[in-house]
Amino acid sequence: MTAFFHRRDGALAVEQVPLARIAEQFGTPTYVYSRAALTAAYQAYAAACAGHRARVQYAMKANSNLAVLQVFAQLGAGFDIVSGGELQRVLAVGADPRKVVFSGVGKSEAEMELALAHDVLCFNVESIPELDRLNAVAGRVGKRARVSLRINPDVDARTHPYISTGLKGNKFGIAFDDVLPTYRAAAALPHLEITGIDCHIGSQITEVSPYLEALDKVLDVVEALEREGIVLSHIDVGGGLGITYDDETPPDITGFARTLLERVAQRGHGHREVLFEPGRSLVGNAGVLLTRVEFLKPGEAKNFCIVDAAMNDLARPAMYEAFHRIEPVVPPVGSNPGEAVTYDVVGPVCESGDWLGRDRALAVAPGDLLAVMSAGAYGFVMSSNYNTRPRAAEVMVDGDAVHLVRARERVEDLFRDEKLLPR
Ligand code: LLP
Repeated sequence: MTAFFHRRDGALAVEQVPLARIAEQFGTPTYVYSRAALTAAYQAYAAACAGHRARVQYAMKANSNLAVLQVFAQLGAGFDIVSGGELQRVLAVGADPRKVVFSGVGKSEAEMELALAHDVLCFNVESIPELDRLNAVAGRVGKRARVSLRINPDVDARTHPYISTGLKGNKFGIAFDDVLPTYRAAAALPHLEITGIDCHIGSQITEVSPYLEALDKVLDVVEALEREGIVLSHIDVGGGLGITYDDETPPDITGFARTLLERVAQRGHGHREVLFEPGRSLVGNAGVLLTRVEFLKPGEAKNFCIVDAAMNDLARPAMYEAFHRIEPVVPPVGSNPGEAVTYDVVGPVCESGDWLGRDRALAVAPGDLLAVMSAGAYGFVMSSNYNTRPRAAEVMVDGDAVHLVRARERVEDLFRDEKLLPR
């Protein structure tokens, strides 16, 4: 529980609004975000950046709802994007595309053209073929593309293997031994302007030490390049800072960011701009998934609490065995913890992997509301229509105001573009 999701007279509320009221008004399953929580997380980064040449590029893959982007754009954030579609979201909220960095291993020519047309801050490039493609596209449209190379520092982020990206065996980044030759190759391409370096070693990282290890390697590269006359103006340290889902104790945002900025300054690089690319740490604990209990199904080996949200709404448990706390929204009247029963909380999707929480002690009855906590990052954005389930509504709370920021999908939307064969 955080300052923004808290209990009022026993009932779970977000800012000043009881979650039960949101369920009444918008139904379930529904994602609920707190504007104040988004703002506080951003300000925690901004506090560390004050007095340094540093900025925040929100990694919008974590939650790209337009209202979320709008909040961060108003606070002054730039964005880290991974597709042309994400760039179009930036444009749709009227944010400045010149504050965008474009990441990802497989940018298409069309995406490069779109990004060049909008003059993005830089392309984070991950391979020689990508450099060649970008050089060709930039030449064709008569521009010079600003480029940063994403290096793979071969550092163990000590996180889940699916979300660890900085080790040799990952598809991401330029292998450490190839970094200098790749910069030299980039420097020889006429339509590219080398401006920076970046790395991203993984996600849900709960210690600072892997970051410092990676940063030191990055700074070694910056110094080696400078000796060859290749001068970089920015250092992008990636995202990946973890949050508390259960009992993890990640460093606090401001302390974490300060530690990195201090290391940059200590090593004499304070004149270069530092970019942070956080996703989860800005939005993860700013959202919950609100769901209603359909049935309780006792069993010999397991008891099941079947709810109306499923793996199609929140894929993280099924995909990574990720843990999300599950809280009753309104504890039943007169209940005491002794009445709790241990349940697997599961959805209606036809897969055994469709679960949201395992072995949870809950005192619940059919019709009760539950909140799946810490669902603001990689929640809605990873949802699907599996089993022809319309995607959930999204709501943003701002003080005592409640805004529907994405209407619940309707079944007709799901097969609108499908066609029957000619008879
Ligand atoms: N920058 C780059 C280049 C990235 O690939 C990512 C995330 C980020 C920044 C933001 O990382 P964050 O601060 O959010 O950890 N779906 C997984 C997480 C995948 C992360 C992908 N890359 C999950 O639900 O845990």
